[in-house]
Amino acid sequence: MAPSIAERVGPAREIFPELTKDVVDRMIDAANPRCRDVLTLLIRHIHAFVREAALTQDEWRAAIDVLTRAGQMCTDDRQEFILLSDILGISMLVDAVNNVAGPGISDSTVLGPFYTGPQRELAQGATILLRAEDREPLVMHGRVGDAAGAPIANALIEVWQTAPNQLYDVQDADQPKGHLRASFRSDAEGRYRFTTVMPVSYPIPVDGPAGQLLQHMGRHPFRPAHVHFMISAPDYRTLVTHLFIAGDEYLTSDAVFGVKQSLIVRPAPRGGVQTIEYDFGLARAVPRRRVGGAP
Ligand code: BEZ
Ligand code: FE
Repeated sequence: MAPSIAERVGPAREIFPELTKDVVDRMIDAANPRCRDVLTLLIRHIHAFVREAALTQDEWRAAIDVLTRAGQMCTDDRQEFILLSDILGISMLVDAVNNVAGPGISDSTVLGPFYTGPQRELAQGATILLRAEDREPLVMHGRVGDAAGAPIANALIEVWQTAPNQLYDVQDADQPKGHLRASFRSDAEGRYRFTTVMPVSYPIPVDGPAGQLLQHMGRHPFRPAHVHFMISAPDYRTLVTHLFIAGDEYLTSDAVFGVKQSLIVRPAPRGGVQTIEYDFGLARAVPRRRVGGAP
């Protein structure tokens, strides 16, 4: 059996505990108590990590280099820190801490870095393609409702996916901007419907630090085929989720850990077109407790 980390690096000695205490104590005058609490935990955990790993100076320099290059890669269309958060499972953990699904409430998953903000609003049933694609057409439809199944009218349903070439419009200068992304409004019965093409599995961008980290971890960069949804309505919690296509080879090894069983769907032919019917349940918004102001 492979040795555990404790066997490889030895027991974590409490080296220099007074430093940790000093860093934490010096936040005594911090104006925002939530900010101070979160930073206290962050400092304690990072200091504990440095002790436990017996981190070398070269390793810490390498970590700073990863963060530096991640920052340098970021543009309006490229967010390397979201990729790092996603491949390390942090995005899904933050999601789990904040979005507890319950009876009648749909599961959430990662937003990812390719949501680009408000998108063109189309009529029920319209296609989200701006150019023809050599890929099987797909109709997606269903209802948006509350936890008890009562319809939510006029919900905003934002959808986006990659083209069959495995790229989002923002990654590919050859695609018209807005290709394979659009917004819809649910009707009085909570119904939505649109036409697209069957999504494909694709690799997340690997030309930066996130890709190098995946390689170091011995992992592949693929996500199983999916369509993104963000559904919002006044007085309801915004649902950020995807629908994944059953049978995809990457469902059990998604590079960003985003797959949940309830989000896997199997298209079926209806009227000669592959069709997915899926009903979404939104949770009521809980009024936010505000502790202090932003730092
Ligand atoms: C996406 O599904 O668009 C995505 C999510 C996380 C990382 C990269 C891409
Ligand atoms: Fe995606």
